[in-house]
Amino acid sequence: MKWLAAMAICLLAAWPSWADQDCAACHVEAALQFSDTAMAKAALSDDFTKEWGLSGKSPDCLSCHAPSKKAGIGCIDCHGIGAHPYARLSVPEVCARCHDAPGESTVRSHRVSLARRQGLNCLSCHLKSPKESHAFVGATDSRILKNAAKLHLALRREADKQMLVVAVRPQTGHALPGGTTGRSVWLTVKGMDLNKSVRWMETKRFGWLVAADGRWEDATLAPDIGVSLDLADPGRKGAVQVEAELIYRFRPGSLEEPDSRQVTISRASMPLWP
Ligand code: HEC
Ligand code: HEC
Ligand code: HEC
Ligand code: HEC
Ligand code: HEC
Repeated sequence: MKWLAAMAICLLAAWPSWADQDCAACHVEAALQFSDTAMAKAALSDDFTKEWGLSGKSPDCLSCHAPSKKAGIGCIDCHGIGAHPYARLSVPEVCARCHDAPGESTVRSHRVSLARRQGLNCLSCHLKSPKESHAFVGATDSRILKNAAKLHLALRREADKQMLVVAVRPQTGHALPGGTTGRSVWLTVKGMDLNKSVRWMETKRFGWLVAADGRWEDATLAPDIGVSLDLADPGRKGAVQVEAELIYRFRPGSLEEPDSRQVTISRASMPLWP
């Protein structure tokens, strides 16, 4: 059907020269699906225009956010301008141009992931449905975040002390969080007393950070491996129970700053030994 529709339009259009034709005229479905994605509008979002303004409207930013069109990414940024027949793209290589850079390791970390060894690629997880080849979705789609990571708690005795072991295992096909600016995952662990009052709390942030000297610092969680933290003496200050949460945030800044889109990915709790 898709093919027939495209052919019909081609005949009407009297076979134009490929390079200067708007791809959308013939590839209606791909164009419709893609126009709805964040990538198609990567140079229009409020966050981008604000940061771009602050950076003095650096043209460097546009090499990824709007390489060939004003609004964002376009067909030729992945497919190239080569005339038909187009070669098939190889994934994830085509994504690496923009998703592997200082401040982003999504493709690099995907290459060493279990997901990759199981034969999954970017398209297995980031399309709205397998039938919509250009409906790319990210963390703003709530289904994507659902199984992003698992949280495990355990207790260990060391000499005469109790130790709480908190493990975070990402199930994304890459570093957690994937992507770059602003995305972060926060772990909070609380010791609660019998009245459910918080007696102590520890927080840890995972994600990219820009250091004081302007260099990027990678503090993301490695795919599949994640992290395992030892917290000493969880029963201090009268705590009888621990509760842990893993929170995904879209905005930079500390956990106290409001983020209306924030999502709890995983929760765990356990009683402490007397
Ligand atoms: C005048 C109509 C027309 C225009 C304009 C057009 N295409 Fe196509 N395209 C087709 C048709 C028909 C096919 C299927 C036949 C073929 O593979 O050549 C196709 C196939 C493709 C394929 C799949 C190739 C494959 O073998 O699976 C890609 C990718 C593609 N086009 C990309 C583009 C891009 C990118 C542009 C814009 C730069 C574009 N097309 C412009 C009509 C068009
Ligand atoms: C973010 C990268 C990316 C962008 C941007 C992109 N495509 Fe694709 N496209 C792909 C991938 C990946 C495939 C699947 C592998 C392949 O067939 O080469 C694909 C496949 C296709 C196909 C083959 C048939 C199909 O639907 O799977 C056509 C036609 C096509 N793209 C047209 C377009 C058009 C038109 C645009 C602009 C509206 C566009 N693409 C934008 C990545 C992209
Ligand atoms: C030309 C640069 C470029 C290429 C190539 C590219 N991307 Fe992107 N991608 C971006 C930018 C820029 C954004 C940020 C858009 C925003 O949030 O404003 C983005 C965002 C995304 C998102 C998050 C979208 C959302 O809805 O939150 C996903 C998922 C994604 N890209 C996947 C891919 C995949 C898969 C490929 C390869 C098939 C690819 N990208 C190729 C530049 C690119
Ligand atoms: C096994 C499923 C899976 C695979 C494979 C996968 N991803 Fe993801 N991706 C996710 C999940 C879940 C998230 C949300 C949690 C996070 O940020 O890691 C995500 C987040 C992202 C983000 C940030 C989205 C946003 O809205 O900020 C980008 C960009 C991205 N992925 C790109 C890619 C690219 C490029 C590939 C291929 C190299 C890929 N992903 C492969 C599951 C996957
Ligand atoms: C190497 C490619 C690349 C360059 C260069 C680049 N970006 Fe990005 N940017 C991306 C990708 C890919 C994403 C999407 C990843 C994600 O979803 O977290 C992104 C996301 C963003 C976002 C978050 C968008 C949102 O909707 O949350 C902002 C803001 C941003 N970039 C600003 C900039 C500014 C300003 C510059 C120039 C100083 C710049 N970027 C340069 C690739 C790039």
